[in-house]
Amino acid sequence: MKKIKLTLIGFLISQAGIAQNSLFIPSTLSGTNISLTLQYGTHSFLNGQLTNTMGANGDILGPTLILNQGDFVNFSVENQLADTTTIHWHGLHVAPENDGGPHTPIIPNTTWTPSFTIMDKAATYWYHPHLHHHTNEHVSKGISGIIIVKDSIEANLNLPRDYGVDDFPLIIQTKDFDTNNQIVVHSNSDDVVMVNATIDPFLDVPGQIVRFRILNGSSQRAFNLGLSNNLSFYQIASDGGLLSTPVQLTRLLITPGERAEILVDLSSMIGQTVYIKSYASELQNGIYGATNPGMAPFMTMNGYNPNPLNGTDFNILQLNVGNQTATPVTSIPSNLVTVTPIPEADADITRNLTFTPVSMGPNQLNGEFLINGVSMDMNVINYTIPLNNTEIWELTNQSAISHPFHIHDVQFYILTRNGSTPPLNEQGRKDVVLVKPQETVRFITKFEDFTNDIVPYMYHCHLLTHEDGGMMGQFIVSDQLSINEITKDDITVYPNPSNGKVYVKIDKIPSKVIVRDILGRKIETTKQIKNKLIVFNNLPSGTNIITLEYEDSTITKRVIIE
Ligand code: C2O
Ligand code: CU
Ligand code: CU
Repeated sequence: MKKIKLTLIGFLISQAGIAQNSLFIPSTLSGTNISLTLQYGTHSFLNGQLTNTMGANGDILGPTLILNQGDFVNFSVENQLADTTTIHWHGLHVAPENDGGPHTPIIPNTTWTPSFTIMDKAATYWYHPHLHHHTNEHVSKGISGIIIVKDSIEANLNLPRDYGVDDFPLIIQTKDFDTNNQIVVHSNSDDVVMVNATIDPFLDVPGQIVRFRILNGSSQRAFNLGLSNNLSFYQIASDGGLLSTPVQLTRLLITPGERAEILVDLSSMIGQTVYIKSYASELQNGIYGATNPGMAPFMTMNGYNPNPLNGTDFNILQLNVGNQTATPVTSIPSNLVTVTPIPEADADITRNLTFTPVSMGPNQLNGEFLINGVSMDMNVINYTIPLNNTEIWELTNQSAISHPFHIHDVQFYILTRNGSTPPLNEQGRKDVVLVKPQETVRFITKFEDFTNDIVPYMYHCHLLTHEDGGMMGQFIVSDQLSINEITKDDITVYPNPSNGKVYVKIDKIPSKVIVRDILGRKIETTKQIKNKLIVFNNLPSGTNIITLEYEDSTITKRVIIE
């Protein structure tokens, strides 16, 4: 009760227009050697008790990484937490072993050192933990950061790009706090809005064209962004690149995991104050953040109501417009880049993915949710995709709530939303797409450059409660036709996951037994081979790949040691 009252007061204050906290702008790291340290911290979100947090190189969030296309970058991610976690480079096109998905855990007190070439186009990406079942916990407690990729095409456009001066990252999140000011994970009572971990924020901006790099970093909530004076703004980039031309908007729907870069012309507003708001009253039902998160009023979600943010308009950021800088950008470019979507006729295959709730009926909003009838299994590869395949993925939502679908490895182009061409601001490069109830969304993409027969990429719903609840699947990209060997079921590995002791039931004794870690490094193990059984006594924690070599074939099995 007490908590609801306090948040209501905060809500009333923010609606009355008293933004009291200067917006935090994360520091930056650039160059070709990037070091992140994952650590615990405390942060003063609310009056009274400090909140326990997790951050990268600080108490909360992480530095903004500024990377140049074409650079080969060495990363080092040190885990000083007591928990295993991972760091995923959301939106970047990297090899699966560098992607930071659930199969590349960073054990406490160890350092993960991926290195790769930045191949992506100029846009705003982000990084966040991705340990299976723990993504929401680690993100909610604070670990997330922005990645800005620069390239020569973007550099030649007349755009604001002075970080913290006319080019600002905005990580928009909502969180739920308990009566001791601690973050509640897996909650539908997220009633505190923050930008860059700042509650009730204001930002002093120059009276010219400014650029906002917006990330919806929330666990579940969608925002329907607009300016309080209904000024138009211009979207210039979607998830993975600039759009062909700026798209004039008064509202921008942004769902968890999505990014958008917008330009706002504040030149006629010097001395005035304007708010970036979420016009959630205009959200259609069936989206988390609307009055009803499901398609029908009788569908309820535990804890969703009462919440002063659901279906109501609320302030996100107060902009105090001041004087111009010495070299302001004063016009919106008429053209940006050439966007070259993949022609539909190039597709080698169409894959159908259908989203359903585990249980039908009024409680179906509480999950879990399945993709093609199955839940995430770390040991199952759902799709094996030949290298250089061009594919259409057709996503159909047969549940009552919207799901922002995300795929690793690639950027895609939306072909149709319920049979129609998508709106202009969805015609660029994307890695997250919202699929509303009863909707079918088709996108096209190509799986290029990276193969790995062992480490999979993920696709999943970016509502972190749904993802952690199993609304995720795995694919590998392979250039080996003999890939079916991997799924051969004439040997059994158990228990899986295990605590170190693993049995492999075999039909005949292999000529060779090799164990590797996820990066392909050989692991020295002690094993006994009895007639139809191989016994490993102490496999190390993480994913172990066991390869059995026979004269005519090779069989690979993965086993997870917890
Ligand atoms: Cu932003 Cu698989 O994640
Ligand atoms: Cu991702
Ligand atoms: Cu979902």
